[in-house]
Amino acid sequence: MDVTLRVLRYDPKKDQKPHFVEYKVTAEPWDRVLDLLHKVKWDQDGTLAFRRSCGHGICGSDAMLINGVNRLACKTLVKDLGSVITVEPIRGLPVEKDLVVDMEPFFAAYRAVKPFLINDEPPPDRERLQSPEERERFDHGTKCILCAACTTSCPVFWVNGSYIGPAAIVQAHRFIFDSRDRGKRERFKVLGSGGGVWRCRTAYNCTEACPRGIPVTELIEEVKREMVFSKF
Ligand code: SF4
Ligand code: F3S
Ligand code: FES
Repeated sequence: MDVTLRVLRYDPKKDQKPHFVEYKVTAEPWDRVLDLLHKVKWDQDGTLAFRRSCGHGICGSDAMLINGVNRLACKTLVKDLGSVITVEPIRGLPVEKDLVVDMEPFFAAYRAVKPFLINDEPPPDRERLQSPEERERFDHGTKCILCAACTTSCPVFWVNGSYIGPAAIVQAHRFIFDSRDRGKRERFKVLGSGGGVWRCRTAYNCTEACPRGIPVTELIEEVKREMVFSKF
């Protein structure tokens, strides 16, 4: 089938503002948007910039706005989009070139919630044991691939870049509800700050955008409740 791929392009070194460029490509219905971007880059215009690595929904590097919805280009099939496909960079982060955004503000929020196990208690002889039920409690967060599709679909993040965003809260959730972790108090300081969890207005865009099916808004609500009812 013939597909028109409309890509929002921007090179800050020479363009005054972003503009759409249309490319005609021949595609199979089961081609992915990532395949189309490769066809353009390899056969038509080598200056097109986008990120990708694994090509299989694992690395999280190719989240983009496809026909108005945040998705992974490597997991989105042409047959589900039609013959005109519009691709734009994810919103709310500075564009470096074309579909490549500066992810540093996103990863700064990730680092801020201390996404690692905190436990100063003397270690046991062997591993810190955990029951299957305790492991299940934070399972959702372990599936996050840090693609930023959630955070960059959040209207609060668009208007207030100081909001740490849903991805960082999902990562905080992953450790707050880990029975082996003792860092809740430290994380609550960040989550309770001006850019923290109370900025969330329960818009649910994040949940709809997550390519891993993580119930992001639900996890955010669990973190809020834990902050209110936690006793130290
Ligand atoms: Fe991506 Fe989902 Fe993780 Fe957000 S929660 S960064 S959408 S995988
Ligand atoms: Fe934003 Fe998700 Fe909350 S879209 S407002 S973080 S529910
Ligand atoms: Fe790795 Fe799409 S290229 S998630």
